[in-house]
Amino acid sequence: MDKKIAKLINEQINAELYSAYLYLAFADYYAEEGLGGYANYFEIQAAEERDHALIFRKYLHENGENVVLTEIAAPDVSFDNFLEPLEKALEHEKFVTALINKIYDAAFKEKDFRTMNFLNWFVDEQMEEEDNAEGMISNMKLFGSDPKGLYDLNAECAARVYTVPSPLAAE
Ligand code: FEO
Repeated sequence: MDKKIAKLINEQINAELYSAYLYLAFADYYAEEGLGGYANYFEIQAAEERDHALIFRKYLHENGENVVLTEIAAPDVSFDNFLEPLEKALEHEKFVTALINKIYDAAFKEKDFRTMNFLNWFVDEQMEEEDNAEGMISNMKLFGSDPKGLYDLNAECAARVYTVPSPLAAE
């Protein structure tokens, strides 16, 4: 594998672990505010991000590349209202999409078809992640200011369950 691509994938492991850290901070905020359903939603989101890191790690191993784990930055933990973490989640997912696209672009330039194929799962996943984040924002804007509406949204988030992503489930 081209060293530049291996380096970008190594950096992506860190970015995904940071995402997990960020979403855990969101979960803590909602838990402290009494919205256990939203806390559950972001705990699962954090687990998925850890899984994304593991998928990239596995890919490096399978291609005989070293994994280099580096320091994870502390996440931002100050929020003024229930909407703010949701908006930050969308902003963050767009940033992650740009990182995935950057690796894809490098793989395309190197004619690394294997990595392009590997990244296709993430291209689809990012579309889903952005779509989910947008849905969380619009729900909060539409119904979150009404106590009964917020209660129902929280209950909906409480029902979210973790599933192993397919690239790891195939083990
Ligand atoms: Fe791993 Fe939410 O992107």
